Amino acid sequence: MNIENSIFLKALNKEKLSTPPIWYMRQAGRYMPEYRAVRKNFKNFLDMCKNPEVCCELALQPINAFNLDAAILFSDILTIPDALGLGVKFLEGEGPVFDNPIKVSKDVINLPDFEPDNLSYVYKAVSNIKNALPKNIPLIGFSGSPWTLAAYSIEGRSSKNFEYTKSFIRNNEEEAHIFLQKLTDACFIYLKKQVEAGADVIQIFDSWANLLSKKDYETYSLNYIRSLISKLKEDQVTASIPIILFAREPEISCNQMIKVQADCLSLYWKTKDIDLAFLNGKVALQGNLNPEILLQEDNVIKNEADRILKQFKNYDGYIFNLGHGITPNIDPGKIKLLTDHIRSR
Ligand code: CP3
Repeated sequence: MNIENSIFLKALNKEKLSTPPIWYMRQAGRYMPEYRAVRKNFKNFLDMCKNPEVCCELALQPINAFNLDAAILFSDILTIPDALGLGVKFLEGEGPVFDNPIKVSKDVINLPDFEPDNLSYVYKAVSNIKNALPKNIPLIGFSGSPWTLAAYSIEGRSSKNFEYTKSFIRNNEEEAHIFLQKLTDACFIYLKKQVEAGADVIQIFDSWANLLSKKDYETYSLNYIRSLISKLKEDQVTASIPIILFAREPEISCNQMIKVQADCLSLYWKTKDIDLAFLNGKVALQGNLNPEILLQEDNVIKNEADRILKQFKNYDGYIFNLGHGITPNIDPGKIKLLTDHIRSR
């Protein structure tokens, strides 16, 4: 079996399949005992990401455990801000914290150029994972969206409402756009390097899409995603690589979202009123089981999976996934149950 037989790539190419391909956002992570056994050897999460052999082992853990249809690079979206000198650390129970966040407008002007070679540990992880994977399992490379990376870089940490970021972009519109453009250029070269190293598919995570009003979402996020995707589609190296876009609860509908020309939309679990008749043939869809369902009894999980399978039954190009990442409190046994159930339908 080689990569041409991959049902994941077929679905991204909008082919109808009797059983959907399956992979899960955050499929490698703390919910797996195998992951925790490796994680305990590193104090700082990002130090672990800087070790390509370890990243390879971690990316393969869920493939070996659940025989999934796609692997995802083991890394994090915050590698780019770290490479720009913002000093990213992950503190226990707090999530990411930046030593040198963007506090004032001149911090944007004083940023160094993005040096793609600062992230060669990521490209090495990609090639290691690609070499270790079965030939028919595609590898997903990824980056954050420019907006989501900017939000973390300005806020300096995770936050519920990112109030500082919102006031920064209101008060420093010009520098905000300079920063977003810089991040767009960095994401492009970073993703291109991942493709050169062996990534078969790209996913862009706009995890903080929900912070912005409809108008601001267009201005500060979608415009840059659109530009990033068009650069990828115009470059010889990346032109044929399918692009998946995940946006968490944006103010705009899927019908509007497809304007950015992603090949596949990864649906947040709360997404309502998906206009399947309109979208069919235009874009592949991925999603969108609520991860919290995985905390419930087996029958609840099966029923919810059946409801989703029925919803997308006649859709051309459907990939089963969650509507956001697996959380650390989920029992890996539930992932096995869900995967087996979908394949048995
Ligand atoms: O299988 C995989 O998906 C693993 C690769 C991966 C990680 N992060 C590993 C990780 C991917 C694709 C990501 C993407 C990512 N990182 C996103 C976008 C997806 C989303 O959830 O919306 C975001 C927003 C981040 C930023 C980030 N990384 C946060 C906020 C945190 C801390 C909070 C949390 O969930 O723990 C991380 C840490 C992180 N990234 C962990 C993992 C396995 C846990 C770190 C640990 O073990 O201490």
